[in-house]
Amino acid sequence: MAPGVKAGVKRRRADDAPDSPEDFSNVYGSHFADQDLPCDDIPDESMPPEVAYRMIKDELSLDNNPKLNLASFVSTYMEKEAEDLMLEAMSKNFIDFEEYPQTAEIHHRCANMIANLFHAPQDTAIGTSTVGSSEAIMLAVLAMKRRWKQQRQRHGKPIDNPNIIMSSAVQVCWEKAARYFEIEEKYVNCTRTRFTIDPKEAVELCDENTIGIVAILGTTYTGAYEDVKAISDLLVKKKSHVPIHVDAASGGFVAPFVLPHLEWDFRVERVVSINVSGHKYGLVYPGVGWVVWRSPEYLPKDLIFNINYLGAEQSSFTLNFSKGASQVIGQYYQLIRLGKAGYRHIMCNLTKTADYLAGALRELGFVIMSEGQSQGLPLVAFRFPSKDEGETEEKDFDEFALAHYLRSRGWVIPAYTMAPETGQMKMMRIVVREDFSRSRCELLIKDIKLCRQHLEQDSNQFIKRLQEHVRRHTSASGKIRDPMGAAKAAFKNERHSLQDHPSCNAAKYSGGGVFFGPAVVLPRFPTQLQSSFAVHV
Ligand SMILES: Cc1ncc(COP(=O)(O)O)c(C=O)c1O
Repeated sequence: MAPGVKAGVKRRRADDAPDSPEDFSNVYGSHFADQDLPCDDIPDESMPPEVAYRMIKDELSLDNNPKLNLASFVSTYMEKEAEDLMLEAMSKNFIDFEEYPQTAEIHHRCANMIANLFHAPQDTAIGTSTVGSSEAIMLAVLAMKRRWKQQRQRHGKPIDNPNIIMSSAVQVCWEKAARYFEIEEKYVNCTRTRFTIDPKEAVELCDENTIGIVAILGTTYTGAYEDVKAISDLLVKKKSHVPIHVDAASGGFVAPFVLPHLEWDFRVERVVSINVSGHKYGLVYPGVGWVVWRSPEYLPKDLIFNINYLGAEQSSFTLNFSKGASQVIGQYYQLIRLGKAGYRHIMCNLTKTADYLAGALRELGFVIMSEGQSQGLPLVAFRFPSKDEGETEEKDFDEFALAHYLRSRGWVIPAYTMAPETGQMKMMRIVVREDFSRSRCELLIKDIKLCRQHLEQDSNQFIKRLQEHVRRHTSASGKIRDPMGAAKAAFKNERHSLQDHPSCNAAKYSGGGVFFGPAVVLPRFPTQLQSSFAVHV
């Protein structure tokens, strides 16, 4: 029998001899190529592996090219050796410390290295890996809430109204954490000119029910670093013991190499915990994150579970139990392969590229909103100038239209709205990642120039047609029943809490993850795109 020909499977084509087996090595000649792929029910019959592989690969070719997705902070490049190690570890369940003690050892090494990078006290710091910063933040919030609760109970005080203070530039996972764990969100508003927390306002908002203040090292919107030290100094001055958690999802692997003297980590007195995403500037494929506490004092014992299901006594403080071991191994590879020098070279290059890109966009007439000069993440946040900033002509296009035009060249660059009190300020953001070298940056600049020219040439009427196209395109592709569909229908009028928050102006982020993100996030893009066009047509 010829290789690839499976015995026992009958040909179903009329022109084939009745009893000869079907040749599945000829994937596009098999009956599977003549049928739609199963969508709702698990098929009754099996499918040969080469056919399943080819069919799914072909379908996935409709996805964007991750390297052109400049919306996301998440790593899209790792060396072959790292990929090999990760592939080899794919069948290991990370949590099974007894079976995979060396993986556990590697995990502890990574946690130690990251804690040391953040200047955690050597003898007391504790930390763990997570699936990403969101899980890390959930754990940190739980720890802050439990510690606050225990302190209140010790003094016989009520425990029913905890709150957390953060800037309106927080990533959505903070809102999730607050809602999931029933904590009141207290926002310090951004303004048209300040996109970070105001330390004074944050400290003034503290009361006896405050479980902590969040400071972001690299906001999702503009990449700016919030002033952790100023918050801490004000708390110390006020003799307040409200703890600070630093969300260093992106900045945790940038600032230590680019701005080593910036005090934002455990060098700062009131910082008790820090999260970082290994899969962002930690340079690992998704999903790995880390959370570190200054000492066990800040991680109440009853949140840690000691278990022995897997043959050995081990402790667990995670939201999920099982997870793959590959990402932790990938993280270790990057830490020892690159070393501090390697990370420094990469982060400095990215910073230079971001500054170069910002300069080029400024020359094209855009307003640059990100910090630049190493003072924030290596990203460029920008927008068209408004009338009071020298724009002379009335445009019938906006940042959302530019994002859509760039999409036709393959680039995924999100546009989003900063919200009501900033006068519906729209902006775009380009995340400069490891594989975005200077030569690709030059190509992007040319494409932005070109798309802008095209936009200027195209008519108002065309924008209307484009709006219609986007509406139809997004609904036509949704042929598969969305497993979150019922929830979406039930909560159709539900808005992101920041959008409705009366004192909040960082409302409508549609950035990283929109195109590739989870089902609940996905619907925001078309809605926003349409409403943005509605302003103009
Ligand atoms: C500041 C900040 N915090 C938290 C997160 C969530 O991180 P993750 O995607 O690793 O869960 C992000 C993601 O972009 C972020 O930018």
